[in-house]
Amino acid sequence: MRYALWNYLHRANSNKQQARMMARHWLGNAWMKRNVGIDRPDIMSSSTNIDYRELRLRMRRGCTPTYMSRVSHCAFFLPRVFSSCRRYLGTRVEERSPLVVEGGTTSIGDGVKQTRELKESIEAQQKHVNTLELFGQTYVRDEWTNIPTMVMDKLGRNLHNQKHHPLWLLKERIKDYFYREFTGRCHKPLFSVHDTISPVVTTQQNFDSLLVPPDHPSRYHGESYYLNAKHLLRAHTSAHQRELVSTGLDAFLLVGDVYRRDTVDRSHFPVFHQVEGLRLFSSEQLFASVTGSGPAGLDLFEAGTRTTSKQESHSLEAAHLVASNLQHTLKGLIHFLFGTSVETRWVPCTFPFTHPSFELEIKFNNTWLEVLGCGVTEQKILHAAGAGDRIGWAFGLGLERLAMVLFSIPDIRLFWSNDECFSEQFKVDDIHQSICFKPLSPYPPLINDLSFWIPSGESFDDRDFYELVRTIAGELVQEVKLIDKYTQPGSGRHSRCYRLVYRHAERTLTKGEVDLVHRAIGSAVETQLGVKGRF
Ligand code: PHE
Repeated sequence: MRYALWNYLHRANSNKQQARMMARHWLGNAWMKRNVGIDRPDIMSSSTNIDYRELRLRMRRGCTPTYMSRVSHCAFFLPRVFSSCRRYLGTRVEERSPLVVEGGTTSIGDGVKQTRELKESIEAQQKHVNTLELFGQTYVRDEWTNIPTMVMDKLGRNLHNQKHHPLWLLKERIKDYFYREFTGRCHKPLFSVHDTISPVVTTQQNFDSLLVPPDHPSRYHGESYYLNAKHLLRAHTSAHQRELVSTGLDAFLLVGDVYRRDTVDRSHFPVFHQVEGLRLFSSEQLFASVTGSGPAGLDLFEAGTRTTSKQESHSLEAAHLVASNLQHTLKGLIHFLFGTSVETRWVPCTFPFTHPSFELEIKFNNTWLEVLGCGVTEQKILHAAGAGDRIGWAFGLGLERLAMVLFSIPDIRLFWSNDECFSEQFKVDDIHQSICFKPLSPYPPLINDLSFWIPSGESFDDRDFYELVRTIAGELVQEVKLIDKYTQPGSGRHSRCYRLVYRHAERTLTKGEVDLVHRAIGSAVETQLGVKGRF
């Protein structure tokens, strides 16, 4: 391979001196001395055909990653050579943009003084090959890096912060519940809300800070999206628990995108959104509101069998109260979102960071659906965060799952839709307005515009027009949009132009039937709204 490169450089360059310099840079001084020497006519004058069999043998025998990457490095500047090389290296050299050698490290050839531009361009290229840029930070790739473009594209979309998006809407409803129900001094909300924290976290945050054991399956490479061995896209919002508690917060909600390697189907997607909630109590706060009874129907700690000392029984009672408060809070939330008639049940489970732990399920269409995980926060975590004198609970709730049930959204992929017909359905003035999603029609739309003059001095209310369209066209019209407004200077009369999108949910509309409806709307606006058609 090096021979091939040398050959190429030498032949392609009319300036032999420069060719030699480049060759030294890319192939290394030692190799040049050994193999080319001062002049090796057998190599330099060899035919235009490269001996690929020989090359392949060499590659198989002694090719190191550094060497390989140097090859790809040269190849960046010499695409022709690279494509030849690649044919013989097969999958070991992979062309991405830019060219990357799997598992390789690039190294700049030794011994030769390069021109500054050359050096800079090589360094820039090298940096690009070996690093990932995310949110203004640079991460060095390594064998853990496994983020596909499809996931990269989702970074920064922040669906939960896009006004009127269903995930935003649900987030707002959840916030509203916590703001209404829990107030502190001067009626200020007790829970602070954090929804702009970067999804890039360290393994320390995602696992260690939550007492996830070193051999826990959730750490497997195949489970998460790693930037490198130390950084990943958070697999859950719990990754920020410790840092937020250590800033002194006693009650917060944290909303964000989370990433897990998962299959893509109607209810799974590698990116989804969670709300994390956490509340801490001092022992006085907790016992000031002692009710004495634990959560109904739950034998949490088999109290009495495990307790001996007074202190232990005190902390057991505290944990009991916390669990009771947690369940009360979350049940309240579900009833706030779904109405009080929804059936719920608690299922005991395990998380490394809570004990005891539960999942909350709701009955939907006659099947039990898990909507959140929660539990009493492990004391060790609070200690490490400087809140060892507190005790508290945490929960993590998946927004997509709830939104799908709440708004009848049949497919998780729809959340990422850019189709206005999707987003339009969630544009409501009141966040609590009930919404039942209407699936997007697979049939093509037909678009017709309607313009008319409004006599000067006359008033015109958009809503009258929308209602009239709805009355005449019914389900045939999917959308009405004002696209132009204009006032004629002399006469003072106004003109409006509306775009009507006709689309049926179950069949393709014909132009003839749409024309008929459109004309009917045209004459109705004239007779009923007193305008003059411009059609
Ligand atoms: N982080 C957990 C998950 O993603 C949910 C959870 C949060 C459980 C907080 C307990 C406490 O599944």
